[in-house]
Amino acid sequence: MSVEKNNASNTKRGKFITFEGIDGAGKSSHIVGVAALLASRGLTVISTREPGGTPLGEKLRELLLHEIMHLETEALLMFAARREHLAQVIEPALARGDWVVCDRFSDATYAYQGGGRGLDKIKFAELEQWVHGHLQPDLTFLFDLPPAIAGERIAAQGRTLDRFEQEHADFHVRVRQAYLERAEQAPQRIIVINADQTLENIKNKIELTVITNCL
Ligand code: TYD
Repeated sequence: MSVEKNNASNTKRGKFITFEGIDGAGKSSHIVGVAALLASRGLTVISTREPGGTPLGEKLRELLLHEIMHLETEALLMFAARREHLAQVIEPALARGDWVVCDRFSDATYAYQGGGRGLDKIKFAELEQWVHGHLQPDLTFLFDLPPAIAGERIAAQGRTLDRFEQEHADFHVRVRQAYLERAEQAPQRIIVINADQTLENIKNKIELTVITNCL
């Protein structure tokens, strides 16, 4: 987690912006860009991620990314890490008036554990209601890209792959599909970004959306 501090005092509740997409869609550098944009406007920005974002959450992340487990255990641990993250980081930050920029949130559980793993999404709706029924992101960017292109990008990085990245192509096709369905259900909140274009074009689209919708 990183914090970009500014001296301006914030009295209003902060906003919560999340970034989603299949592995290799290229959201990381844009998350840094949005945090910098907000900080340049005098806002205090908390930059965080899921699974993770707290000491306990980061331990759970390590397990989730590398240990084989029952598929429902995986889904429950995602929500357990999220509960901790909300309690320790996200809710206090928003209440202080800070903004939160988060790499993945519950849409990822619908996409990966629902679409990818094939678990029942109705159960996620119950868990979502339990864990953050009162809170949804104000804005979500969904980086959309054909899995074949995303796979090439990951392969070009030449690093060790985690359990999700190691999944077969059809897993990522299902994850992408579930993300797009989720975007159709919440078109006001989830902005689909075509991630198969220049970094500059993507940056411009994201900045314009943040400025228009949030600032
Ligand atoms: P990510 O943060 O994209 O990792 P990195 O950018 O370091 O590669 O993703 C962590 C992985 O966790 C990713 O493959 C998606 C997965 N994930 C889920 O399956 N369900 C969830 O609810 C979340 C938050 C992540």
